[in-house]
Amino acid sequence: MTETPPSARASRTHWNSRIGFILAAAGSAIGLGAIWKFPYVASKNGGGAFLLVFIGFTFTLGIVLMMAEMAVGRASNSSPVGAYRRLGGKHWRTVGYMGVLAGFLILSFYSVVGGWTLAYVVKAASGSVIHDNPKLLDQIFSAFITAPIEPILYHALFMALTATVVLFGVQKGIENLSKFLMPALFIIMLVLIARSLTLPGALNGLTYFLTPDFSKITGGVIISALGLSFFTLSLGMGAMITYGSYVGEETSIPGAAAWVVGLTTLTCVLAGFMVLPAVFAFGFDPAAGPGLTFITMPAIFSKMVGGQWFAVAFFFLLLVAALTSSVSLMEVVTSFLIDEFGVARIPATVVMAVLMFALGIPASLSLGIWSDYTFFGKGIFDLLDYSTEKILMPIGGVMVSVLVGWKVWHQIHDELHHRGMPLRGIGAIRFACRYVAPILVTCVLFYNL
Ligand code: TRP
Repeated sequence: MTETPPSARASRTHWNSRIGFILAAAGSAIGLGAIWKFPYVASKNGGGAFLLVFIGFTFTLGIVLMMAEMAVGRASNSSPVGAYRRLGGKHWRTVGYMGVLAGFLILSFYSVVGGWTLAYVVKAASGSVIHDNPKLLDQIFSAFITAPIEPILYHALFMALTATVVLFGVQKGIENLSKFLMPALFIIMLVLIARSLTLPGALNGLTYFLTPDFSKITGGVIISALGLSFFTLSLGMGAMITYGSYVGEETSIPGAAAWVVGLTTLTCVLAGFMVLPAVFAFGFDPAAGPGLTFITMPAIFSKMVGGQWFAVAFFFLLLVAALTSSVSLMEVVTSFLIDEFGVARIPATVVMAVLMFALGIPASLSLGIWSDYTFFGKGIFDLLDYSTEKILMPIGGVMVSVLVGWKVWHQIHDELHHRGMPLRGIGAIRFACRYVAPILVTCVLFYNL
């Protein structure tokens, strides 16, 4: 993405830029987080209890921080490191660096999982993963991700695809594609939900997903819900700052933030409706962990007319959703090299892609032959996931809310006031940024440590 000068922005038509912005931000948010991560984390953490806390977070803290990041981006007209420096002063730069680090760490394991979706497109096309035998599906998936070579090749391919999009600015193409492919993903999910819900025994899964058992709301559930809401909304590392810096004056930030959060949360819930009923219908283990979507979906396909084609389409659309997210991560990481060190775009992208690919290798191996190497009791894959989602991103969230609530409120006020957001609403956002968000997130962080 190249910096759009203000004059060029103003000349874009109102409708196009608003929709374009919402689509791009939703494209960053909707990805593996919603469709791969949400179902297994919700399933592992008590189903309904988790859903309740998660929705509670996305629609309060999530919306507020989304607005805060977007407003910081537009007010500073710059990517995260520059944005923090420009608005907060020299020391705030560090927060921007932290975001870049988070993006680097996230993409290195995100690309491993992106590789899995790529592999499943191929495997679905060859028909080799479509069975209704839970044990067999579990074995196929485990054998694949624990292998030393194959998943790494797919990881390389996924990283290369991401870099290609970032490099050649195929963004326009991807943007246009995702205009059709994202709705297509929604439609296919609705079809799969219909199939999943009509399986014998599906109702147990539905009940598990929708009935909150309040005794299951533990500290662990709360931190998982908070972390996942940051991850799935692409918050806490500056991705939405970058996107906000490209947004035109005429776009209402509160409106756009509400749309992005609404669409992303909806996707999470749909993914739950798709996966969980089938988990119970086929007798999978609800606590199966990261493989849940990959082992459950093929079982659904095996019970559908033309299931193989649905399988290919589903994993392909999931791949596209993952790509529109990974591009936003790589964009933050490479634009840092470009903006801060004056590196040209091509070497910056190649160097970062190669480094992140390299870090992804031990992450992938840690699920298989290196599973014995642990740090703080976790393998490398889990460590990358944990340290970003449950530490770096919440800290980033606290920082952006402190910056907005205490340091540069008048500027942010102007950003939000555009297009007549009522003053009372703005007051509530200020209160949330000053007190609620920093205190709440800090409490959860410390509880976790
Ligand atoms: N939100 C994306 C997903 O759910 C992943 C992602 C993209 C992300 N950009 C991010 C996560 C920035 C954290 C920060 O798949």
